[in-house]
Formats: sequence, C-alpha cells, structure tokens
Amino acid sequence: MTSLSDIMQGATLPGDSTTQLQEFKIPDPGHGEVLIKTKASTICGSDIRCIYHEHLGKGPEGYQGVIAGHEPCGQISKIGPGCRQFKEGDRVIVYHISGCGVCNDCRRGYMISCTNETYRRAYGWQRDGGMAPYMIAEEKDLIALPDELSYVDGAQVACGFGTVYEGLEKIGISGNDAVLVTGLGPVGLATAMLSRCLGAKKIIGIDVIQERMDLAIELGLCDHVLNAGPNNVDDVKKLTGGHGVEKAVDCSANDKARATVVQATRRWGKIVLIGEGGSMALNPSPDMIHDQKTIYGSWVTSTWKMEELVERLVRWNIHPADLVTHRFSLNDAGGAYALMASGKCGKVAVCFDEELNA
Ligand SMILES: NC(=O)c1ccc[n+]([C@@H]2O[C@H](COP(=O)([O-])OP(=O)(O)OC[C@H]3O[C@@H](n4cnc5c(N)ncnc54)[C@H](O)[C@@H]3O)[C@@H](O)[C@H]2O)c1
Ligand SMILES: [Zn+2]
Ligand SMILES: [Zn+2]
Repeated sequence: MTSLSDIMQGATLPGDSTTQLQEFKIPDPGHGEVLIKTKASTICGSDIRCIYHEHLGKGPEGYQGVIAGHEPCGQISKIGPGCRQFKEGDRVIVYHISGCGVCNDCRRGYMISCTNETYRRAYGWQRDGGMAPYMIAEEKDLIALPDELSYVDGAQVACGFGTVYEGLEKIGISGNDAVLVTGLGPVGLATAMLSRCLGAKKIIGIDVIQERMDLAIELGLCDHVLNAGPNNVDDVKKLTGGHGVEKAVDCSANDKARATVVQATRRWGKIVLIGEGGSMALNPSPDMIHDQKTIYGSWVTSTWKMEELVERLVRWNIHPADLVTHRFSLNDAGGAYALMASGKCGKVAVCFDEELNA
C-alpha cells in the first residue's frame, strides 16, 4: 500500500513554456541502482532549447515526459542489490546519460554517444531526472563528489563543466593562448573560468545579453567582452596584435557567432563547437584550409574525465557554483525555468535542503 510519505512532487515540462508539478511515488532502487536524495539540480540551455518552449528534440534529445533535470547532484539514501562501490551517505554527481555499458562508446566512458537505442537513456529526457527530492540512478553513472565541493558545484559538473573541460582538452589550452568565447551563458562562462585555470591570460567573450557580459567581467572570467556585431572579427584581431586568437570556443549555437570564432582564430589555430543546433556557413578555403585551422565538435565528456575534472577543481580551488546567480525551491521550479529562458541570469539552480539557503 502507498502511504503519504511515499509520495513526492516532481517537475515535468509540458512544452508550452510552463512547468508542471506532479505527484510521483518515491522509487525503490533496483539491481545496480541507488536512490539519491537530490540536493541540487541545475538548468541547461539544452532544456530550454529542446523541451521547455516546445518538445523539439529527436533521438537522444527526445523528451519523454519524465521528471526533468539532467544536471543532478545529491546524497545516496538507499543502495539497491548488487552495487559494488558506492554506499549510503556518499555524495555523488550523476553523469547525465545512462548508456548500455557495453557498446564501444560506453566502454570508452562516453555514455553520451552510446549506440544502443534500447538502453541509452538520459536523465531528465528519457528517464526521471533531478527535478524532484529523490531520483534513481545506476551506480555506473555516478561520480564521487569530493568533500571540498558543494552539491551545487557538482550539479554544474554533471553537464556544463564536464562538457567544457572535454572541449578545452580537445583544443588544448595553455598560457600561450588567447581564447575567444562566443555565448556567455552558463556554458560560455564555464569555458572562460576553466580556460583561466588552464593558463589563458587573455580571454575575450561575446554575447548579446548585457547581464551576462557584466557577469563575465565582474567575476574576472573575461578580460574583454564585446557585443555581438559585424565588427567582431576585426575587434578580436585588434585585441590580439592583429593576428586573432590561438583558440576559440562557440557556446552560442548562433550561426554568425560560429563564423566569428572561425574567422577570428589565427593561422594554425584550433576551434571547438559546443553550442548545439542551428547551422553554420563556411568558406572552406579562406576560412579554414589556407590558414591551416582545425575545428572540433565536442559532445559532453566521459565518466573518467569527469572524475579527473572534480579532482582538478579541488586543486585549482575554484567553485562552479560561483556562476549560479539564482537558487529556487522545487515549488518555484516554474520561476527557475522562466528566468533561464529569459537569459537575464548566470546559471539557475533548483535546490533542496541545505543548498537552498547556501
Ligand atoms: N556540446 C555539448 O555537449 C553541450 C552540452 C551542454 C550544452 N550544450 C549547448 O551549449 C550551448 C550553451 O549552453 P548554455 O546553457 O550556456 O545556453 P544559453 O542559451 O544560456 O547560452 C547561449 C548564449 O549565447 C548567446 N548568444 C546568442 N546569439 C549570440 C551571438 N550572435 N553572439 C554571441 N553570443 C550569442 C545568448 O545570448 C546566450 O547567452 C547551448 O546550445 C546548449 O544546448 C552543448
Ligand atoms: Zn546540459
Ligand atoms: Zn552503450
């Protein structure tokens, strides 16, 4: 029999720019699974782009009406049978896609690109996510959260910071590099923050939302910010001795910004595309080939690299939670999604327990 204490509220996204709170039974962990007491669940640009306004996503981005939230972090409250490493009380980040575990991509730790259509299910998209006080996760999807990091720090790692770390590793950032970041949403701000830790001394950011440009300067993440516009390539060249940046990262998904990252990168430079969706126009010979440039695409990260990242965050003594400008309770999840959709914010978090007033 279900008692009242077995019931929780969870937020779903009907796809009409609203949020719905519905009742769910608090689930019991099955074999190889854990029950997590959610402490923080942050909102991603992908949630807004693919789910909140309309259910646009297909395949891995198809939303199946589950409890939303693919950036969860919390504490294990119950262990299912057959778990091998984690125990009750452990603080954990959920790598946000559960893969089959045995395809080639899963074996590399990249469950994001699991090729098994039956078993690949992302939290908050095809299986219940973190916008509820409890959630079930598979033990193999967990990353231990170091004591030095808060649950909100961990939620930021679950998708955004993990993604950015991977992209920056692909292009290799060091103290030699000036870095251009287009799009100063939470992912772009994370790019600037991690580029700084990796040694970059000149970081240039571009956006169209004043609040985000101000935040990038106030937090010391960017050295220069520019309003998106037709002179961006010239402006970036002026800031880099006429040459352009060595490394550039698009976190906007805007086609003009993508052209800017390519054209404002100097000869032999490297570019990574992180912003998702939309299109891109390229003139291969002048934009790429004759200047010997390389473009990478980068999708999330691997479980082992996420483990490496949390270790580095402690070593660098930085806190991804510093990019969170607003915390909401689950009851006000609607306000949280609406604010993230407006863009007039840094990262937005739905928080529980001690994280709500931290
Ligand atoms: N590749 C991956 O694995 C991965 C993972 C997570 C998120 N994403 C994607 O990364 C992107 C960023 O995520 P977010 O949470 O920061 O989203 P967001 O929508 O909050 O940020 C995008 C930013 O780009 C800015 N922008 C729009 N037009 C611009 C232009 N012309 N020039 C410069 N900036 C412009 C917007 O004002 C906004 O601040 C999204 O597309 C998201 O879907 C990709
Ligand atoms: Zn995300
Ligand atoms: Zn797989």
